Amino acid sequence: MYDYYLGGRTNFTADREAVGKVMAAFPAALVAARANRDFMHRSVRYLAEHGMDQFLDIGTGIPTSPNLHEVAQSVTPGARIVYVDNDPIVLTHAQALLTSSPEGRTAYVHADLGEPESILASPELAKTLDLGRPVALSLNAVLHFIADGREGLSAHQIVDTLKDALAPGSALVISHGTADFSPVEATETTQIYRAVGTSAQPRSRKEIEAFFEGWDLVEPGIAVTHRWRPDEADLLSDISDAEACCYAAVAIKPA
Ligand SMILES: C[S@@+](CC[C@H](N)C(=O)[O-])C[C@H]1O[C@@H](n2cnc3c(N)ncnc32)[C@H](O)[C@@H]1O
Repeated sequence: MYDYYLGGRTNFTADREAVGKVMAAFPAALVAARANRDFMHRSVRYLAEHGMDQFLDIGTGIPTSPNLHEVAQSVTPGARIVYVDNDPIVLTHAQALLTSSPEGRTAYVHADLGEPESILASPELAKTLDLGRPVALSLNAVLHFIADGREGLSAHQIVDTLKDALAPGSALVISHGTADFSPVEATETTQIYRAVGTSAQPRSRKEIEAFFEGWDLVEPGIAVTHRWRPDEADLLSDISDAEACCYAAVAIKPA
């Protein structure tokens, strides 16, 4: 569905039908997806420009250029990236994520965010990233698929497990859907996702802020995706908070 929102071609009839229903309930879905993807680009560029050269991206999605490694390696050619997703379709297309610069390296791990220990223990991760040094962990538009009340670790426990494994100086990047601006549309959209078998859970600003507990938020703190360090093009756009409907932030692990 996200690939279709972004104008990609790796989507199927069932995805397009479900998107049609979402668009009827929430016509700004495409705008929200674009604003989210643009936040990913800006946050990665910001972190790379501030010396981050290792990235762990969980909930990567179907490749859509520029992918995270293309943004990071355009600033730091030696950057190393591990991508993680649990969708077999993403696995099929993972080759497009493995087009690293010669100086850098990328790896793909087929795993579930619900089992963070298995992601951390994966041999591909060990071969690609040095967890003794800072890593930027990105969880963009994925935690809202970890619903409250599910079996296993809660979304906040998952994030805490990952945060604990990272060295001081590491970064946590999150974008996350919220019902704060349009509760009726968000509830309807959540129901459509659930009806097609995808658990979904919008969260409030306070619940999203709690993911960052103990880490230092980078300016401007928690912001709606298009308002997080916007560049000139973002400033010119007239997206409303209700259309973007996702909060985003970046925080750094203190020493
Ligand atoms: C909306 S896309 C976001 C893609 C990308 N992070 C971005 O923000 O542009 C969400 C991705 O998260 C993946 N995903 C959902 N639940 C997951 C889970 N439990 N473990 C790993 N990946 C998951 C989906 O397969 C999908 O590819």
